[in-house]
Amino acid sequence: MTDLAETLRERWSPTAWDVDHVLEPHDVERLVEAARWSPSAGNSQPWTFVTARRGDALHGRLIPLLAPSARRWAPDASLLVVNVCHRYVEGTDWDSSEFAEYDLGQSVAHLTLQAMSMGLFSRQFRAFDRDGIERELGVPAHWVVMTITAIGRPAQEAPLEGRVRRSLDDVWWR
Ligand SMILES: Cc1cc2nc3c(=O)[nH]c(=O)nc-3n(C[C@H](O)[C@H](O)[C@H](O)COP(=O)(O)O)c2cc1C
Repeated sequence: MTDLAETLRERWSPTAWDVDHVLEPHDVERLVEAARWSPSAGNSQPWTFVTARRGDALHGRLIPLLAPSARRWAPDASLLVVNVCHRYVEGTDWDSSEFAEYDLGQSVAHLTLQAMSMGLFSRQFRAFDRDGIERELGVPAHWVVMTITAIGRPAQEAPLEGRVRRSLDDVWWR
């Protein structure tokens, strides 16, 4: 990892957050801006982001809809970003974009790397009541709440061990 870009080398996904850290609205905007400039199939941009800062009314409505596993740590993050995927892309003649999930994932990756460059860490998660959050947010048909990203300053040390990956030989057929 030593010769990777710093944002990649330093990235990891915390589960303990500094509850004194507050993310200002202009920083939230910078994060969404990074996601917005991500590439997508046919420039379809099949994504919407719903942001809730710790203490917001919306934040309070999302917390009960998290699974117990995520409710232990996600509420302490400075920001929750609900990542919504448009499987049906308006303004096109596509019934659905076969790349919608791919594109959303890439835009979330852009957002998390922008976060790193701002000294912020992220943990994406799926541990929530999807139907409940879609109802709560009034998500239109054909759109799907795919994941949530918790963002903030970690309140734990970076794990020195335990982060494992498949080997380079396994992921790279050469
Ligand atoms: C699509 C997706 C879903 C995830 N869901 C959860 C989850 O429900 N709960 C959780 O604690 N972490 C979740 N994670 C975080 C992963 O477990 C974590 O990224 C992985 O273990 C690698 O660790 P690292 O990000 O620190 O390298 C999810 C990550 C992704 C990308």
